[in-house]
Amino acid sequence: MPEIAFVNGVFMPLAEAVVSVEDRGFQFADGVYEVLASYGGRPFAQESHLHRLEHSLKALHIDLDLGAYGLEGIVREGMARSGFAETMVYIQITRGTAPRHHEFPAAGTQPTVVMTVKQLRRPAAERYEKGVKVVSTPDLRWKRCDIKSTSLLANILAKQQAAEAGAFEALLVDGQGRVTEGSSTSVFCVRQGALWTSPAGPHILPSITRGIVLELARELKLPVREEFCTLEQYQQADEVFLAGTTTEAMPVVRIDEHQVADGKPGPLTRQLRQAFLEYVARGDW
Ligand SMILES: Cc1ncc(COP(=O)(O)O)c(C=O)c1O
Repeated sequence: MPEIAFVNGVFMPLAEAVVSVEDRGFQFADGVYEVLASYGGRPFAQESHLHRLEHSLKALHIDLDLGAYGLEGIVREGMARSGFAETMVYIQITRGTAPRHHEFPAAGTQPTVVMTVKQLRRPAAERYEKGVKVVSTPDLRWKRCDIKSTSLLANILAKQQAAEAGAFEALLVDGQGRVTEGSSTSVFCVRQGALWTSPAGPHILPSITRGIVLELARELKLPVREEFCTLEQYQQADEVFLAGTTTEAMPVVRIDEHQVADGKPGPLTRQLRQAFLEYVARGDW
């Protein structure tokens, strides 16, 4: 089955896709991205993902009308062309190709639009059954984490630290000792009978999965607190789980050297994961 790419209006095999070395994405990470997954061959929560992409573009003053560009149809076409049962679509839009200088390029420079379509491989079932280990690390990111920028150095360093520790994810801890989110996931905990997650704002990415989990929790009448918790509060929580497009809702049973509660996925985590899977199965997204 071919992995495919789309570059500035043209579909091609992934191996043939190229962009200029003068592309500002390559030179400066001057671009934004989105990752979408499919269920049953359909893009999941596409409207929310494209809405977030618009937010990111606007924040960086990259002028591209996604509706006029037809990105929604391009995503669907990419998924259909790939032929994989389930796909992961990566979209990257940069400020375009121009001689390297820091200020914006000349008016009329076209943004570069790249999409890749690959087979989606979700974490193994055993991970959801047993839960995963995470490590904590300082949140070294900039002050606009709500922008899904391709500049991911701090996230990469954090994830590598997790990988070297044999952990699934790294929890990012800010200068005030508060957990913001994971390096590529949102994070939730259950404590004092409520579901807690960091508030929306510049400290975190407005995760699409986080939004859905919060919606489902409210439907289930679980008390929800969109407030920061400290690393210590996460370590001592009754339950902890991660959320993300490819991760879905993943139980966390160890944070650094601390076991979370009894070291097994907790009941609310399992209930919310089940609610998420039922939401997916309903198909009205
Ligand atoms: C920093 C960060 N937080 C959270 C998420 C999860 O977001 P979503 O649920 O939209 O996949 C991601 C996904 O890439 C991420 O990079």
